[in-house]
Order: sequence, then C-alpha cells, then structure tokens
Amino acid sequence: MKIYLAPILGMTNYRYRNLFTKYFGGIDKYFAPFVTSVNAEIINPTLLKDLMPERNSVEYLVPQILSNNGDDFKRMAKAIIDLGYKEVNWNIGCPFSIVTRKNKGAGILAHPDKIRQFLDIVMNNPVCPVSIKMRLGMNDIADFRTVIPIINEYPVSELIIHGRTGKQAYKGVIHKNEMAEAFSLSTIPTVYNGDIFEYSDYELLTKHFPDTHTFMLGRGALSNPFLPSRMKGIHIDSSKKQTILKQFHDELYTAYENSLYGGKHLMDKMKSIWIYLAVHLKEGDELLKNIKRAKTVDTYNIVLSEYFGKERGWNEENGVYYFIGTR
Ligand SMILES: Cc1cc2nc3c(=O)[nH]c(=O)nc-3n(C[C@H](O)[C@H](O)[C@H](O)COP(=O)(O)O)c2cc1C
Repeated sequence: MKIYLAPILGMTNYRYRNLFTKYFGGIDKYFAPFVTSVNAEIINPTLLKDLMPERNSVEYLVPQILSNNGDDFKRMAKAIIDLGYKEVNWNIGCPFSIVTRKNKGAGILAHPDKIRQFLDIVMNNPVCPVSIKMRLGMNDIADFRTVIPIINEYPVSELIIHGRTGKQAYKGVIHKNEMAEAFSLSTIPTVYNGDIFEYSDYELLTKHFPDTHTFMLGRGALSNPFLPSRMKGIHIDSSKKQTILKQFHDELYTAYENSLYGGKHLMDKMKSIWIYLAVHLKEGDELLKNIKRAKTVDTYNIVLSEYFGKERGWNEENGVYYFIGTR
C-alpha cells in the first residue's frame, strides 16, 4: 500500500513537507501545490521557489502544474525537470471559479476536446512522465465517462481521482459508486483521494475498493499527521503524540518566524495550521478558540505554553472538523 500527501496550497509548502517527513513520515510521494504555467520562453525562477532542490528534503516530490495550454505546460515541465525532478502532475481538479472559468483545473473536465488537444501536445515527445489529478466532473458527474477513455489513449503515469465534482468543491458526499466506475474505466494506475480523516475511513475504503492500493491524503493528514504511518501499520504511543506535535509546531513556527514579515502574517499562517492540528488534540476546540483570539505573537505563545504545559493527550477518533466544507 502506498500513501501520497495531497497538495494543499498555502499549507504543504517545502517547510511543511520537510518537517512532516521528519516528524511523522508514512508518505511515499509528496505532491507540491500547483504552479501555473506561463506563456513565456524563459520561466522566471521565482515561480519555482517552492521547488528549489536545496529547500526540499523529502525523498520523492512531485511538482504540479495548473495549465490548459500544452506548450506552456511543456516549457514549465522542462524547467521543473531541469531542477532534478522525475515527474510532474497535471492539475485538472482545482474547483475554484477563478480557475475553472478559464477552463483550467476542474473547468477543463467539461471540455474533453481541450483535454485531447492538450495531451496531444504534452504527450508528443514528452519531457518527462506526467500523472494527472482530476475530479469526477465539473458540473456534471458523468464527465469522467468521456474524459477517462481519452486519458487512457496516452501514456499517463498515474491517475489520481477525487470523488467529487468541481461544482461541489469540498462539500457533500464522495460519489463512491462513480469512483468505482472511474477506477474500472481507467487503464492507467489509479489513486484514491478524498475524505480519509480517520483510520476507520481507510478501513471502509479498503472494503469498498479492494483493488485500490494507493491513497492520497490531504486534510486528514494535516489534522492527524500520524494517520499515514498508522495506515502503514506503524504504531506510535498516544502519550508521545502531543510532544511530537509540539516539536513539529515549534520548528515550523521558527521557520515561519524567520521568513514571514511581521507578527500579523505569522499569526495568520499559524492559525491556518491550527485549524487542522487542533482537531485530534484533547481540549483542542478550546485551544483553537484561544489561538484564534490571540491578537499578538506574545499572546499566541502564552496560549500555547499553557496548553502544552500540561499533558492532555490525543484523541484518535475525533469526529469534529472545522476545515473547509466538511461535515
Ligand atoms: C486549501 C486547499 C488547497 C488545495 N490546493 C491544491 C493544489 O494546489 N493542488 C491540487 O491538486 N489540489 C489542491 N487541493 C485539493 C487537495 O489536494 C485534495 O484533493 C482535497 O483536499 C481532497 O482530499 P482530502 O479529502 O484528503 O483533503 C487543495 C485543497 C484545499 C482544501
């Protein structure tokens, strides 16, 4: 069984990924949040700053490109490969309207002709292996029935499928029956993505998709960073989890303190991280409330030292989710 860490823009940047692998592990492939392709002969290196090899210490990182133009994609892929990467991923799942209305991200799923045009260019003498991360459809869940047979015609290395439509964004159910249909339609190795928050979610999925052996985790891994290793059968004593989490936090905090300009930016960043990290901590709701209320870095640090001053423990099966669009 293989586990991939999903790209989460604004969260899973190189600092986060490096520390995730240092403290939690269990991940076979990390996917970097997307870079957008540009219509330029020479790629400005600042677009690739998250991918710079000297910044990245995870074993296997897959850069991702958001694009609807095959030539632009290829140039961006070439610049990425020149940094030493072995594969790139094409994002055709991003649900945000600013992206989809330009027929990018999930928006292109409603235009199979554009997908074919794109792949004709990208897969003609490809610069590197290309995997795809898609949703079932844009507005219509049936889009995948047209799109997957097209993708099958090309030597795509892997097909990651999120079981919602673009219109759903992160709300509502994962369409398990359509996911099963999509997996059986694909002749390319598939990866399951969506709503693996707890170990029991994973157990259910193994029953529902007995032939699926690769899972991509996003929000579930950010809120329970021990979940990937647990899925791999590695047991970490619950009493150690709070301490490990604190070490992870402290190192991430220092990295951001040294790189972000001013306390406000630092606070905003740490608050967005705690929305996930607080989920499985005992009395985590209270902690999150106090962190959100903290107006200054000093107050934030007082809140945290009060919380971590006491061993509170870890709740594996916590059904409370705060993050975007979940139950
Ligand atoms: C804030 C946020 C940012 C995201 N950024 C990206 C991205 O850059 N590229 C991408 O392919 N998916 C992105 N996603 C989608 C995730 O990779 C993943 O597919 C989604 O969260 C569903 O998986 P999960 O239920 O395990 O979280 C993002 C999701 C969220 C909530």
